[in-house]
Amino acid sequence: MTLAADLLDIATRIAREAGDLAARRRREGLEIATKSVAADIVTAADREVEAFIRAELARERPDDGFFGEESAAQESASGVTWVVDPIDGTVNYAYGIPAWAVSIAAVEGTADPATWTAVAGVVYNPVSGEMFRASRGGGAWLGEQRLSVTGEVGPAGGLIATGFGYDPATHAPTLERLSRVMPIARDIRRIGAASLDLASVAAGRLDAYYEKGTHPWDHAAGVLLVEEAGGRVGGAPGGRPGNAMVVAAGPDFFDRLAALLEPELRTSER
Ligand code: IPD
Repeated sequence: MTLAADLLDIATRIAREAGDLAARRRREGLEIATKSVAADIVTAADREVEAFIRAELARERPDDGFFGEESAAQESASGVTWVVDPIDGTVNYAYGIPAWAVSIAAVEGTADPATWTAVAGVVYNPVSGEMFRASRGGGAWLGEQRLSVTGEVGPAGGLIATGFGYDPATHAPTLERLSRVMPIARDIRRIGAASLDLASVAAGRLDAYYEKGTHPWDHAAGVLLVEEAGGRVGGAPGGRPGNAMVVAAGPDFFDRLAALLEPELRTSER
């Protein structure tokens, strides 16, 4: 078994157990705290599930690094680092909207989002039971089905998902960006979980996704899914956490969307 396949197996097992733990906790009740701003929340389950994932990974691969949403980073002694969002779409999770996911990626090379290479990634939605999986060079999969991005986008425009930052200071530029993109959109979706937005692009359920202000744990696994499904990813996904810009789409539509987002693509570099 190759290293990527091995890492993918580990991520798949742990994501399933972690997601099921989060779903169980959701049924038992919620404990919510706020983070950067009032709208940016964390639940006790986010922290417990991240601790569970971290402990399982340490048991399987003690020399690997760790980079998660809810706890301090750990350097890698093996060259592999795990990038983890225990519950991506925490607001959906809190409100009971069935669009949240566990996102786990294994990256190699460096622990720096600007230069690392993702080699395996999973996005698991415990409510739908869907496990999206990808390994570098091994394709993107949903169960037995190989995923592929949408092809040519016709005159009606593309179905485009995006995200809105929690920080009120970002609202005006977010809306201005949206108005630039609207002319090539059939419609817009705001699903509320970046990892599922990217998995949906990989699965051909969306023509594109873009967002300014994501963190590496939100998009590391999803970016690999899109790339392995034949899509293109740009922007500056390696930009500073919280300042990254991710644009993902099928090869033809990518250029049209990226052209409209061009100013941000430049300023999102670190
Ligand atoms: C958030 C979600 C949301 C996106 C934000 C992310 P979280 O992650 O993915 O859709 O718009 O940029 O931070 O906080 O729910 O893990």
